[in-house]
Amino acid sequence: MILVTGSAGFIGANFVLDWLAEHDEPVVSLDKLTYAGNLENLTSLNGDPRHLFVRGDIGDAGLVGELLAQHRPRAVINFAAESHVDRSIRGPEDFIQTNIVGTFHLLEAVRAYWSGLADGEKTGLRFLHVSTDEVYGSLAKGDPAFSETHRYEPNSPYSASKAASDHLVRAYHHTYGLPVLTTNCSNNYGPYHFPEKLIPLMIVNALAGKPLPVYGDGQQIRDWLYVKDHCAAIRCVLEKGRLGEVYNIGGWNEKANLEIVHTICALLDELAPNPLRPQSSVLITYVQDRPGHDRRYAIDARKIERELGWKPAETFESGIRKTVQWYLDNREWVRNVQSGAYRQWVEKNYAGRA
Ligand code: NAD
Ligand code: DAU
Repeated sequence: MILVTGSAGFIGANFVLDWLAEHDEPVVSLDKLTYAGNLENLTSLNGDPRHLFVRGDIGDAGLVGELLAQHRPRAVINFAAESHVDRSIRGPEDFIQTNIVGTFHLLEAVRAYWSGLADGEKTGLRFLHVSTDEVYGSLAKGDPAFSETHRYEPNSPYSASKAASDHLVRAYHHTYGLPVLTTNCSNNYGPYHFPEKLIPLMIVNALAGKPLPVYGDGQQIRDWLYVKDHCAAIRCVLEKGRLGEVYNIGGWNEKANLEIVHTICALLDELAPNPLRPQSSVLITYVQDRPGHDRRYAIDARKIERELGWKPAETFESGIRKTVQWYLDNREWVRNVQSGAYRQWVEKNYAGRA
């Protein structure tokens, strides 16, 4: 069995759902259920004997130790994190606590468990740490994409905290021999994406006839990957990755934010036409930029393709169409995540930007 942390969030939930669709190997899910954690993402597993959900903090080494001792997983996959750059700018402390201190306690608990395993089991254990391309900083137009040897230059409290966690994971391998793997992935999109991030925010705002807030000139570039491709890449690294290695994961899909927003508008106009507003793009509104906004990310994903044979299955065109359709088909999910706390965040983040 495997232990998955952060499993009620966007990528963690997709990972658990896809895992159990493909394997019968059970999953223990550990999630603190912060504002970003949503048990509704895992509703389809209710009553499934292969899945056990535990509410808890990766920083609670006692709880993690008990879970490890009781369930004896062959792998720990760490998705748990504070993940939103804008929130890290407004309030970095939770990012330091979970992404750095939490990862440290998780590593300690896994190290203690691993040290007590018999030799055969010891070599089989895996700690897979899910990280981000943002640790590499920002690229200028024409710069080569981030490879695994690109130096770390994190620019936001979020990316700095993820960079610190990557360094801890690396150190636990180098110093103690803990069998770790690290993945650094580009921007994901797809089902269950919390609508504080660009793509789902634009979809839900456009459907509600609300402004589509584009930061600065909208020419910042991200490399977009459909979430199910990311999950497949993680499964591949887990099975075939070389211990202590880092694998960059990306979609070969560099797009400017404004282009993304126009694509979403065109898809909504086609799939959910509104006679009162034939063009959703009239809602596009330029707002004050994000402080320290990284201009461009691009991932060089050749290592994982060359060594492990993974490459993305979805094109951006097919993935974004599926994503928009998912939001149209899951309006109740959207209504339920837009709680009072969500509305307060939207008010706080966008009020001063107009
Ligand atoms: P998310 O914010 O949607 O989900 C994070 C989950 O972690 C939530 O369910 C939350 O409740 C849980 N969590 C937070 N603090 C916790 C703690 N202390 N203990 C246990 N659980 C806790 O994030 P996501 O977009 O699904 O990202 C998952 C991971 O992938 C993160 O580590 C992120 O850095 C990384 N990542 C994300 C992207 C992306 O585009 N979203 C890209 C590359 C890497
Ligand atoms: O690159 C991987 C990272 O991608 C992950 O590590 C992060 O967890 C994930 O949140 C994401 O970070 P970004 O900051 O790139 O994602 P976000 O969706 O917040 O923003 C994408 C781009 O869109 C970015 O350039 C900022 C811009 N943006 C965002 C919002 C929320 C806007 O123009 N308007 C908005 O309202």
